[in-house]
Amino acid sequence: KKVVLAYSGGVDTSVCIPYLKQEWGVEEVITLAADLGQGDELEPIKEKALKSGASESLVIDVKDSFVKDYAFPAIQANALYENRYPLGTALARPLIAKILVEAAEKYGADAIAHGCTGKGNDQVRFDVSCAALNPSLKILAPAREWGMSREETIAYGEKFGIPAPVKKSSPFSIDKNLLGRSIEAGVLEDPATEPPEEIYQMTKAIADTPNEPEYIEIGFTKGIPTTVNGTAKNPVELIETLNELAGNHGIGRIDMIENRLVGIKSREIYESPAMIVLIQAHRDLESLTLTADVTHYKRGIEDTYTKLVYNGLWYSPLKAALDAFIHQTQERVSGTVRVKLFKGNATIVGRWSDNTLYTPDLATYGAEDQFDHKAAEGFIYVWGLPTRIWAQQDR
Ligand code: ARG
Ligand code: SIN
Repeated sequence: KKVVLAYSGGVDTSVCIPYLKQEWGVEEVITLAADLGQGDELEPIKEKALKSGASESLVIDVKDSFVKDYAFPAIQANALYENRYPLGTALARPLIAKILVEAAEKYGADAIAHGCTGKGNDQVRFDVSCAALNPSLKILAPAREWGMSREETIAYGEKFGIPAPVKKSSPFSIDKNLLGRSIEAGVLEDPATEPPEEIYQMTKAIADTPNEPEYIEIGFTKGIPTTVNGTAKNPVELIETLNELAGNHGIGRIDMIENRLVGIKSREIYESPAMIVLIQAHRDLESLTLTADVTHYKRGIEDTYTKLVYNGLWYSPLKAALDAFIHQTQERVSGTVRVKLFKGNATIVGRWSDNTLYTPDLATYGAEDQFDHKAAEGFIYVWGLPTRIWAQQDR
């Protein structure tokens, strides 16, 4: 039996290697680490996998696809789970699943494995995404079944030459990639406790941010961000640039109690500077370029879309149908948004577009006014008719 294991280099996924071989009789474990811009050194990860007993260790750079095919559609959908979380972790999982399945097919593996626990969302996202892409592959989740505590896991690993974490390892569970960092556990488990400053890496504390605001301009083409301050950026550069600019002003920190699919409420800290600014800017440009009815209808679609992605249904027929709707709405969402970055806030202060639906001659209160005020009277008569009839009946 041959297995492709999603690998991060941490103790838990490392322990999965001997565990799969010793306890579950797997003959060959191929590890796969996705480079999603997490900034970890991936070469040592390769060596670590082989030392832990992997027969082969793959590292695949998927940064470009991550931004283009996963983050950008989420921006077009203004996707914020429970109005706040820009899905940095949730968006990475279907892409990791995709390369896991591709590797399993290429190497003739029978199964895919991951190190997720049974309490989280990530296990759902991996299992469902893999099943959607290749229903004949088995999915193995040893950490969901082994029932070992953290200490037992480390001890088990040591038997097979997997070194215990050098320092007393960080008490936090952190998932990071280009789109941001998701931080949980440790003191954060008490929702009444303020997060310690040390957990943040991408965003400055407000006390340390510049005392002068910074203005930036983000250009969109059909709902896709393409320029910053007039300079064209490729997708990865664009995200990196905005993480830098917004993070420097302390923008993108989120502290929330979140509802997981498995029914648990968890306290989550995120920092996601670029995504927060981009979604705000994109939504603003939509308000200039979409009609009222499309704007309003899209809000409901966005909510459904966001829940689907959070809940692991990236590769599902409903998601594909919503994608088609969202894609259609973006045809004219091109233009520029001016954003003021200051002390933790990204404020939209200007927007313009060749496709603007804003009509100064209709909106103005000045002498240039072209709006037919007389027409309003007849409109209101018809609009209010049902209410009038209802009120008369009431008397
Ligand atoms: N709760 C978030 C999500 O479901 C983040 C989970 C991240 N995982 C972690 N080990 N911190 O997308
Ligand atoms: C995990 O339990 O694997 C991490 C948390 C989550 O998936 O929500």
